[in-house]
Amino acid sequence: MLAHMSEAGLEQKYIKEAFDTNWVVPLGPNVNGFEKDLEAFVGENKRVVALSAGTAAVHLALLNCGVKPGDEVIVQSFTFCASSHPITYLGATPVFVDSEKDSWNMDPELMEEAIKDRIAKTGKKPAAIVPVALYGMPYQIDRIMEIANRYDIPVVEDAAEGFGSRWNGQVLGTFGKYGVLSFNGNKMITTSGGGALVTANEDEWREIMMYATQYRESYPYYQHEKIGYNYRMSNICAGIGRGQMTVVNDHISHHKHVQALYEELLKDVKGITVHGNPDSRYDSNFWLCTITIDENVKIKGQENAYKAIVTGAVGGRCWCDTCCNKCAYRL
Ligand SMILES: Cc1ncc(COP(=O)(O)O)c(C=O)c1O
Repeated sequence: MLAHMSEAGLEQKYIKEAFDTNWVVPLGPNVNGFEKDLEAFVGENKRVVALSAGTAAVHLALLNCGVKPGDEVIVQSFTFCASSHPITYLGATPVFVDSEKDSWNMDPELMEEAIKDRIAKTGKKPAAIVPVALYGMPYQIDRIMEIANRYDIPVVEDAAEGFGSRWNGQVLGTFGKYGVLSFNGNKMITTSGGGALVTANEDEWREIMMYATQYRESYPYYQHEKIGYNYRMSNICAGIGRGQMTVVNDHISHHKHVQALYEELLKDVKGITVHGNPDSRYDSNFWLCTITIDENVKIKGQENAYKAIVTGAVGGRCWCDTCCNKCAYRL
């Protein structure tokens, strides 16, 4: 899960170029180049906007879906908080939908039940739907899109963990109105921190670009006709991204190799099930390999693990001055 740079050191080459040419700003050749690399990778004639974080991508996607105060947004319950926090940034309310057994991702039937329930109870359909490729595993996007289209609700694919995962051969993030990618330090590729939004067409791309750059109009003076955000990716971070794009396929192959090792090594271990692709439509990047353990399986010496009270640092912030590398922050 730690960042791996290319052996050729291309990340540093692109960063050096940025310094040498004084493009030390949140725009420039590396940002443009990284976006072009991402567009070539995801295919489907999509446009991509590089942003400061995947969370920013979720935020701008929902904003551009028209989510506003008082709305409800359907989101997968089994996910990282960043899938749902931006819903509340916009004054809307998340409606959490549980997962199906096979993919561990949003159950399309429960999703439709939730849509019907909200229409019956509030008289209004949810403003957007956010399925999540948890641990890289694809969601049943054809079922989700069919239902979403029937109710005319936009889909924001949270593929932050699923960069390079495919459904029926097509890269995740390219099915819905928007696709969210993350390049945080622990993701399939990294820009140290960063994200991107995959958009359907030129108009959507332009609008997202405006929101990501304070909605500044293209006049020789400062004019802002809407409230925007400072969400553009730095040219330094994008340099790391360009280097990482030269090894993205190697990273994905490596994760798949690790998954295959787990499947092989654990195949005869009673009580342990490795979570694999449910069928041939799913092609997970196996960003994180996961297992389920039968309730009656206990680890020697850890029989009371679930009764233990967690103490010490948990969460995303280390409070010490000199990191000891022992706390949960290192995860
Ligand atoms: C499912 C999911 N959505 C969104 C994000 C947000 O990405 P970022 O950390 O780049 O803001 C993450 C990762 O951190 C994630 O795992």
